Amino acid sequence: MIRTILTYPNPELKKKSAPVAIINDSVRALAQDMVETMYDAPGVGLAAPQIGVHQRVIVIDISASDEPPGLIVAINPVIVHAEGEAYEEEGCLSVPKFAANVRRHASVVVKALNLEGVECTWRAEGLLAIAFQHEIDHLDGILFVDHLSPLKRELFQRKARKAAEEAR
Ligand code: NI
Repeated sequence: MIRTILTYPNPELKKKSAPVAIINDSVRALAQDMVETMYDAPGVGLAAPQIGVHQRVIVIDISASDEPPGLIVAINPVIVHAEGEAYEEEGCLSVPKFAANVRRHASVVVKALNLEGVECTWRAEGLLAIAFQHEIDHLDGILFVDHLSPLKRELFQRKARKAAEEAR
């Protein structure tokens, strides 16, 4: 089922998500909904709090439309190693119509459970490394705009206020 994606400044996006204790049918249904919602948007990643569920589940698929899908479902993901620096433009389904460069690690090693409860390790660089960091941030209530310099964040907030007024 395609779910509604919450957008800034919805306070649900600022809450910290809890680890998943057991991978049961409700977690599998949540992951399925997240995958459908991400592909429908379309986006390259989605975290559970973006649909108002505060559990540590993320889905990512960075493959281009002419490539076979490369879906990752990661439960309780943890960055166990990070190195290097990247500074790439990011956007977010919860922050529509805004993009900005964000400082991240260039490569990360992520451990998480898959839907079968098996611990998996991903060694990610490039866009995938950024996607993991961006989505795991969501689980801690952090949006990419929270990483911007005060000046750029002010610019973003002004744009967001203006968009909200126009939508009224
Ligand atoms: Ni996002």
